[in-house]
Amino acid sequence: MPMDKPQHEELGGDGHPKNSTEKKHKKKSKSKDKCKERERGSHPDDDISESSRKKSKKEKKKKSKDKKRKLKTLDDDLKSPKKKKRKSSKQDSHNGTSNELTKLEKKGDHFPFEYQHIVAPMVGASELAFRLLCRKYGATLSYTPMMSSSQFVKDAEAASLTNSGTNTNGATIANSNICEFQTIPQDRPLVAHFSANDPEQFAQAAKLVENVADAVDLNLGCPQRTAHLGHFGSYLLGDDDRELVLKIVRAGSKAVSIPIFVKIRLMDTVEETIKLCHQLRDAGASLIAIHGRYRATWERTSAGARDGPALLDQVALVKKSMPDDFPIISNGNVIDYDDVVENKKLTGADGIMSAEGILNNPALYLPRLGSSNDDGEREVQIPIPSPLKVNGGGSVPDKKKEKTMRKLQKKMREIETIEKKVKELGADSINDDQRSKLQAKSEVQTLLKWLENEVSKPSSKELPDLAITTQMTSMKLSELFKAANNKLVLAKEYISLVRSYPMKIRSVVFHVRRMCKDLLEQYQLMEECIASTSIDEVDVVLSKCERYMNDPDTFHYDRQKAAREKEALAAKRREEGKRKRYEGRMMRKAKREGLADLEHYLRIGAEVPTVEIVRQLKKAPQEERLAVWKKHHSQHCMSHHLEDGGCKRDRACAFLHAEARDKNKFVEDDEVAG
Ligand SMILES: Cc1cc2nc3c(=O)[nH]c(=O)nc-3n(C[C@H](O)[C@H](O)[C@H](O)COP(=O)(O)O)c2cc1C
Repeated sequence: MPMDKPQHEELGGDGHPKNSTEKKHKKKSKSKDKCKERERGSHPDDDISESSRKKSKKEKKKKSKDKKRKLKTLDDDLKSPKKKKRKSSKQDSHNGTSNELTKLEKKGDHFPFEYQHIVAPMVGASELAFRLLCRKYGATLSYTPMMSSSQFVKDAEAASLTNSGTNTNGATIANSNICEFQTIPQDRPLVAHFSANDPEQFAQAAKLVENVADAVDLNLGCPQRTAHLGHFGSYLLGDDDRELVLKIVRAGSKAVSIPIFVKIRLMDTVEETIKLCHQLRDAGASLIAIHGRYRATWERTSAGARDGPALLDQVALVKKSMPDDFPIISNGNVIDYDDVVENKKLTGADGIMSAEGILNNPALYLPRLGSSNDDGEREVQIPIPSPLKVNGGGSVPDKKKEKTMRKLQKKMREIETIEKKVKELGADSINDDQRSKLQAKSEVQTLLKWLENEVSKPSSKELPDLAITTQMTSMKLSELFKAANNKLVLAKEYISLVRSYPMKIRSVVFHVRRMCKDLLEQYQLMEECIASTSIDEVDVVLSKCERYMNDPDTFHYDRQKAAREKEALAAKRREEGKRKRYEGRMMRKAKREGLADLEHYLRIGAEVPTVEIVRQLKKAPQEERLAVWKKHHSQHCMSHHLEDGGCKRDRACAFLHAEARDKNKFVEDDEVAG
């Protein structure tokens, strides 16, 4: 499919796509009026029913005139929003595009930011460094990974913040949730994405991020077992929880001045999805992102997952059913820019969100800026990322920072002593505990560097407003395309961002292996990449890749290694199949026994043993081994983990043969939400 025209060329003067704009202007629907009334804080139906009871016909007429006048004012207000103007002036320089382009691309009257090309919320993956990379290469809006609203509020309280939002900023929260919520002024517009099952907690969390995010999103899409256990995500989509969900949305939209978004999955029927979306909108949601796959239930076998085609026709029907000016975002199966264009055409959605696609290619949205041939000479404005410090306000009390810094300095000294020992007496001279301390060196170092920098700086109150001083640089579009076409360049850029904005090593490995999958496989470096325990090690892998690319003669194909990798992959697939069958058996058993909680048996013994537990149990007496195994790991094969030579039944064994957990392993299935 040919590359489509740059997005701004498709837009009418008001920023809407031409066709839909024309349609919108003709169609002044009742629902649109309702929407605008709702924006003002009251539902028109309330007004109408009130007036029909109390007022005379004449009064009604007067009211209708008033309403029309107010709507006109509101219409004007919305065209040049006052409440959100504060941010709008900053936003122009934050999108990584030229100001002119950004203005053209601002879509809809709702928000002073563009929401057409979106980085999806991703646990362990849509972190600051990755968001910045995607923004540079075309994304215009990003979601944070899912954060638990209750935990977020607890963490903020622990960091002795007030809930007023006045002295709360990203740097503060970054310190307590270091990997989940970091932000800088160039990381805008930003949607803070929360799981919640308590209206008050959601409202509090929203308040905490109000000054550093542009919208707050409620996760109603997570299908994971943890979501079922914790009663959040897509498990709140049933009828029983509808009132609770609406209360959460109402509480959020009442608490903050920024919009409340909701991310959902499809309900069992499209009518139900439509009903849900209308209810969410009436409760105060300003935008809904629809993941076009079914919500998860334990009975469902295949759908509810993240793979397989997204049901975009259903997204289209939902979009059609909503008022024209209510933004619907379509999510699912967008792998390249052609998909972006196709998806928009098919669904009529106001924006596109991508997860898997953008993980593989952070420059997925770049073609929206133009084509490298026709527009290559055009200069694009790109913000230069600033240090991890957010605009204005106080930050973590300096005492707390200093205390953490001292703790980390102590850790570093310990690590240096261990390193010395290894140097003098060899690697065997240290125990497992010391080894894991050594492995954490890079993370400790990065964090320490950041804290030392923070502590030595003058108080943030003395800093100028970073939003105003945001430094920009310009790049030719052709240069951006050149970099985007080389995944190694993207991965290296990502690594250098991670050095400034620390992230867990397993997420770093995850991103690099997604971005450079083909190269790592071609040069048999995947195993080495996955085993990396520090940023430096990942960097070494990338350098090897680069060397092989530049000088192919230096690479020699290793057949044994290839066979090992093939077997490891096959074993992983077998385990996945086994786990699914096990879950099915246990659910059927619970059903047969008439248990209300179908997951009862799934919860027993589900914990995957860690490397450390395996090491300890190997030394423990048989009785103790059995007791621990029965209590925590009974779904897993004891022989596989504890016996020399492993499990004799091997593939025929009914118990799980999952790999013991190492803290650096990114266990996708466990961590992925949505
Ligand atoms: C690594 C990963 C982590 C995810 N974490 C979240 C999350 O925190 N919250 C959420 O609502 N969805 C999450 N999702 C789901 C995505 O946001 C998205 O809805 C889903 O992957 C479908 O989009 P896609 O087809 O473009 O991948 C995650 C997906 C991936 C791949």
